[in-house]
Amino acid sequence: MPGCKRVSAIVHTYPDHEALSRAAAELFVGLANEAISERGRFSIALSGGHTPQRAYELLAGPQFNNLLDWGRVHLFWADERCVPPNDSRSNALMVREKLLDHLPVHPGHVYPIACADGADKAARNYESLLRSFFPPPFPKGATPRFDLIFLGLGTDGHTASLFPGTPAVTEKERWVTEIYSEKEGIYRVTLTATILNQASVVAFIVSGASKAGVLRDVLSRRPGSEHLPARLITPECFGGRLYWLVDKDSASLLETD
Ligand code: 6PG
Repeated sequence: MPGCKRVSAIVHTYPDHEALSRAAAELFVGLANEAISERGRFSIALSGGHTPQRAYELLAGPQFNNLLDWGRVHLFWADERCVPPNDSRSNALMVREKLLDHLPVHPGHVYPIACADGADKAARNYESLLRSFFPPPFPKGATPRFDLIFLGLGTDGHTASLFPGTPAVTEKERWVTEIYSEKEGIYRVTLTATILNQASVVAFIVSGASKAGVLRDVLSRRPGSEHLPARLITPECFGGRLYWLVDKDSASLLETD
């Protein structure tokens, strides 16, 4: 966003993946209780991948599952692979197995991205769902607002399904778009930076030494890293907050102050 004075990123480093996952679960609970008491509902968009799975398991476990009113939670996805619902690559399947199957979330408040009629139709349907969930007119100065979005970071700097060099990365109008993943030979559907940036809080969850280089490049915004899609995620330019929850291994190349 032109003229956005990016504040330095808020990075929280944890000793290991377990501590990182606990912190993500605590952030989820804190923001959920805040949103539920202020607005009666909590809207969250979840990412797939391996990194956040432990956080989802913790949320579904005895230490966290009674800390909020799950009936007030509205759960969306940041992206989805267009594969059969019982395919192990499905983000919806993973979130059901790790989280939803163990919690009293209202079934009518769970909004998976349904690709059965093709990726383009899935993207357009999901966008109209979001536009009805976040109906204008937005309160003065407000914009559609997820309360929280959990994002991961790929070693190529992708987040959600915003892969480097794809049209999805430069999409400015649509909130949801489809993308063909050459590498996987499948279509994906993804939220675009336009809507990802309209969140009150975006939290990246990053773990492992394999992410150290890309995390350094994204956070340092070093010349030559402009093409990394994760750099497009700047909710602080739209009145939101951006947190990086990282473990020691992924933070190993970050300059310490
Ligand atoms: C997905 C995610 C994707 C993921 C990154 C990191 O659907 O897979 O949206 O963006 O967050 O690829 O994945 P890992 O957590 O497995 O490293």
